[in-house]
Amino acid sequence: MSLFRKISERLHEKRVEKASKQAKKSSHRTEYLLNDNTPFDVTEAFRNLKAALSVSVPRKEGGVTIMTTSAYPEDGKTTVTVNLALMFALSDAKVILIDADIRKGRVAKYFKCRTIPGLSDCLSGQNSLDEVIHHSHMNENLSYITCGTHSPKPYELLESEEMQNLIEELKTRYDYIIIDTPPILLISDALAISPFTDGVALVCRHQVSYVSDIARALNTLKFAKANILGVIVNDYKEPKQHKFYGGYKKYYYYNSYSYGSTNPEEKEEDPLEPSDEITKE
Ligand SMILES: Nc1ncnc2c1ncn2[C@@H]1O[C@H](COP(=O)(O)OP(=O)(O)OP(=O)(O)O)[C@@H](O)[C@H]1O
Ligand SMILES: [Mg+2]
Repeated sequence: MSLFRKISERLHEKRVEKASKQAKKSSHRTEYLLNDNTPFDVTEAFRNLKAALSVSVPRKEGGVTIMTTSAYPEDGKTTVTVNLALMFALSDAKVILIDADIRKGRVAKYFKCRTIPGLSDCLSGQNSLDEVIHHSHMNENLSYITCGTHSPKPYELLESEEMQNLIEELKTRYDYIIIDTPPILLISDALAISPFTDGVALVCRHQVSYVSDIARALNTLKFAKANILGVIVNDYKEPKQHKFYGGYKKYYYYNSYSYGSTNPEEKEEDPLEPSDEITKE
């Protein structure tokens, strides 16, 4: 085994350790949802993101399926995905959000409802599709499917023909099917779904995600022949504004959408900074 491989495996192990420690520590998470009091630039960033994704995967007769994932836990996938679905719904599109994180999905928390019955229950034949579709109280165009009962074989459920049929059926009913998944460098569940989707957006967290991890996640998706739409930089803190308006910026700020590279040779080891421009190949 080459020295480089040994070092990168050790780094991966360290990050997995760090991620699981963080996940244990942060059992108390916050569910941010766009509302009338959300700062203008946050809403605007989501509007830009929605616009960029609409252009990347144009609307067609059958609904468009967009999946989000990230390299490691806590990058903000669920926060970004739920709000993105809401933003699409606000623009009068019929939207369904699917929580495909069968291991520890948290979409239900945003809607203050139970996780059961949900996706896994439908895929295993316990419940019909109509029984697992919930209608959001936030917007009449938005429906959602929670993750469902914990299953010992989530990957198998997600790669099944039932999952493919479920997506095909939803495409006939909705304009957008938005899917939230677990972190791709820890669990391969997202790879089971990517072939059924029109595109995948990778979420990373500013000053937390490493460029090398983003590149590895993109390579993994590329290997799975996913249509990579780009990289969403979450929790972006503008250095200058951060200095002056530190308190407010701490809450949340979503940068608009930037394109992702699949080149692993780019910058190594420093958490993502604004100067780390990633350009599409
Ligand atoms: N832009 C942001 N600003 C402030 N807090 C944020 C932001 N994005 C996410 N968070 C917070 O970080 C925590 C993790 O976010 P979230 O659950 O969306 O991550 P995730 O990538 O879905 O995690 P997991 O991989 O465990 O599913 C939550 O408490 C969330 O409220
Ligand atoms: Mg999540």
